[in-house]
Amino acid sequence: MERTQKLRVLFITPEIYPACKTGGLGDVSAALPMALQHLQTDIKILLPGYPSVLQGVKYKKAVHEFNDLQHFPPATLLSGKLALSKTESLPVFVIDCPGLYVREGGPYLDAQGRDWPDNSLRFGLLSKIGAILSSDASPLKWRPDIAHCNDWQSGLTPAYLHFHPGQKAATVMTIHNLAFQGVFAPGTVIQLGLPPSSFNIEGVEYYGNVSFLKAGVYYAEHITTVSPNYVQEIQSETLGFGMQGLLTTRNDKLTGIVNGIDTDKWNPETDTYLAKNYSREKLSGKIVNKKALQQYMGLDIDDDIPLLGVISRLSYQKGTDLLIQIAPELVKLPAQLVILGSNHIELEQQLILLAKMYPHAIAVQTGFDEALSHLIEAGADCFLMPSRFEPCGLNQMYSQHYGTLPIVHATGGLLDTVVNYTPSSLTKGTASGFLFHPITVGSLLKAIQFAIDTYQNKKTWRKLQRNAMSKDFSWQASAIAYQEIYRSLIHST
Ligand code: ADP
Ligand code: GLC
Repeated sequence: MERTQKLRVLFITPEIYPACKTGGLGDVSAALPMALQHLQTDIKILLPGYPSVLQGVKYKKAVHEFNDLQHFPPATLLSGKLALSKTESLPVFVIDCPGLYVREGGPYLDAQGRDWPDNSLRFGLLSKIGAILSSDASPLKWRPDIAHCNDWQSGLTPAYLHFHPGQKAATVMTIHNLAFQGVFAPGTVIQLGLPPSSFNIEGVEYYGNVSFLKAGVYYAEHITTVSPNYVQEIQSETLGFGMQGLLTTRNDKLTGIVNGIDTDKWNPETDTYLAKNYSREKLSGKIVNKKALQQYMGLDIDDDIPLLGVISRLSYQKGTDLLIQIAPELVKLPAQLVILGSNHIELEQQLILLAKMYPHAIAVQTGFDEALSHLIEAGADCFLMPSRFEPCGLNQMYSQHYGTLPIVHATGGLLDTVVNYTPSSLTKGTASGFLFHPITVGSLLKAIQFAIDTYQNKKTWRKLQRNAMSKDFSWQASAIAYQEIYRSLIHST
């Protein structure tokens, strides 16, 4: 029978742009629900009430007091609207629990970069309220058909729902990064009110501890991850981070859907952060952004020198150590390097030192800076992503959309979204960047050298830029793929 009602989805996430973003999950949690809303999905977001969220959400009203939740402090559920742009907004539920969420520091780490000691409780509450709202225990009239969980922070929702005896939504668990697993001591099971029997290999137990992500992967009706290539990689020992066995057992319920990008926010023709807007047809404006970036970062102003950009969570995953190692060679090529990075105090200091050693060629800005990230995407000639692994990655897509050719390790979603330049891919009109493998200093440098040689051939470079800028990275197709999964789950329950 044809379903006439809209599909109802509760999207449970610890981040959403612009209210809270530490990486790609923030971007995805805004853009994917918006794309689903355009496809007539009745979608609402559930978020922890960090100060930035409480401030960013408008028209807030209290819809329920959770005063008697065993194991958790009292919390107020607020409903409201989060504006994503001047014209678009998403309906959100916010868990207002100041003792857990209102504090100085980041959503997961304190100002010194240490995990908050009560993270299990903080995200246990997010998972728990996600489960309540998705079942007949909900105090609200609106009940979702699907609870869509994102990363370990909402991984216990499918577990709580599994043990709920009444009616409940079907669950989807999206893995944005398998390296973050939400691992806590065994006593967490009792602390968070899960049945003791769930502390089992067939349950939330994970190598003697509790893992929120493992719980989600084990109990969710369907699992997705953010690129088709990463689906294969996480079933292998190298990139399975200990979960490859379970993921292989469940691979009939595991789908890779590549992320899209928000082409309204990331559009060189309209981006208000740029020194000059430009388009595929009128690429001349790009050079104005290069100059503006060189000037802003205090580099030599030079049209001809290749300028390489990096925007990154500084980490082993992102290969920041490799960038530091190649820097002296890069300067000799010659090339300039602009790095915007955050999240790792030691790596930040090493990068600042590099910039001091090569002030005309290397410039570093630490901290999170949305405006500068847009200018780098527009002003750089190439974008470097030497990620050891990359579930999807967004910057390589922003880069292509901005005619900034990505130089990326052939892994995860990078392999799915960048087409390596070869004579044949150029002829076919698909070449859009440079892929390298293995992930070593030598092969990274070789790829950069090749990109810079290619840069000297302006005709080929323009062709590559136009190919890259012609690619469709919008969310439309991926949002339809999520909707198909939602529908298949409703029909099977
Ligand atoms: P990940 O989520 O693993 O960090 P992604 O490529 O999926 O990687 O997404 C990273 C997002 O965070 C992009 O939107 C990128 O522009 C942004 N970003 C990362 N570091 C910074 C920073 N220091 N300042 C501004 N934006 C940043
Ligand atoms: C994670 C991954 C990144 C992905 C993002 C959004 O942070 O590291 O590759 O693009 O989530 O799905």
